[in-house]
Amino acid sequence: MSLDVQKLRKQFPILDQKINGYPLVYFDNAATSQKPKVVVETLENFYYKYNANIHRGVHTLSQEATNLYEEARKTLQKHYTIKHSHEVIFTSGTTESINLVASSFTSLLEKGDEIIISQMEHHSNIVPWQLLCERTGAVLKVIPISKSGELILESYNQLLSKKTKLVAVLHVSNTLGTINPVEKIIHKAHQVGAAVLLDGAQAGMHLKPDLQKLDVDFYATSAHKMCGPTGVGMLYGKEKWLNKLPPYQGGGEMIKEVTFAKTTYADLPHKFEAGTPNIAGGIAFATAIDFLNEIGIETIYQHENKLLTYATEQLTQIEDIELYGTAKRKSAVLSFNLKNIHPFDVGTIIDKLGVAVRTGHHCTQPIMDYYNIQGTVRASFAFYNTFEEVDAFIKAVKKAKTMLS
Ligand code: ALA
Repeated sequence: MSLDVQKLRKQFPILDQKINGYPLVYFDNAATSQKPKVVVETLENFYYKYNANIHRGVHTLSQEATNLYEEARKTLQKHYTIKHSHEVIFTSGTTESINLVASSFTSLLEKGDEIIISQMEHHSNIVPWQLLCERTGAVLKVIPISKSGELILESYNQLLSKKTKLVAVLHVSNTLGTINPVEKIIHKAHQVGAAVLLDGAQAGMHLKPDLQKLDVDFYATSAHKMCGPTGVGMLYGKEKWLNKLPPYQGGGEMIKEVTFAKTTYADLPHKFEAGTPNIAGGIAFATAIDFLNEIGIETIYQHENKLLTYATEQLTQIEDIELYGTAKRKSAVLSFNLKNIHPFDVGTIIDKLGVAVRTGHHCTQPIMDYYNIQGTVRASFAFYNTFEEVDAFIKAVKKAKTMLS
């Protein structure tokens, strides 16, 4: 099915504006996606009609808010094909989800145990594990990448051993666009008894993983990369792991009973949800998921893929373009440089022409080190982007080249 992009764009008033006198071309979707009216209306509606704290009140409003929030949890459960709704933990986003697991894993590790990550990880899937290693004496191992920006699986196989307790890798790379072969990674890790965490931040809007089929142990993601609000995300954890891990934060809502002698903890999912959550955000996360499913994730992926193919063809025709990330399975991310020109300069000039991209290391300094560069210009597409916008982007890059050469 093809998309009626013009009709869809009516849901995104922000796109219909001029920046520096030029129509906005928003190609920074990997940083955050735009929000459709239905999501903004859900937030507004919550605060106008339902605002109350959840799980705490006997009064009607509190119960209505609680029902909406718990329904949202079920929407996430269904979307990701999760067995139990209590395996869905609301967090503030992917970063918190990963930190939760890394923090709680402290009690399960011993000196000399190993954690495997990869060279293409976002800093939020590196630093929490480094902190965990500092606390426990565990050792961090890194899967290298190839020039095309793909994981070298032979090296991964060699790194795996009985000492491996956890493997944490990206589902989709924010910098290179690579869609990792997560099925193989999970299968191999399980053969040595290691748990697997996938950082799904960049997969949200483009893929729809069946988490039970994948048999992954933890899956972390953020609402704001998939048309939802900022400040809310999900950690999926298999029941057996969530029961094994101690709480991440202490506070209200996560307890069964508190005395000075001993505190007992609430059942899942509340054990990991201390404090008042982002209630409106959680409910609007579900609205975003419903919105995406109505369009169809596969339809979204196909449209973005066509944009990526077209943009790659156009961009590589420009002399002196260096492209980073040419994996066979890629999501709609284009990282590049113009030879001998700083990415920041390209980004600044094309912004003057209305084109929004991200420049820099994209929170992935080890990737920059691998390619021996300081940063890249990154264009990332969403289903509401058009071929005309790709043309405007290419024209802007050519102009930047002329001005900076
Ligand atoms: N992780 C986000 C990005 O890649 C912020 O831009």
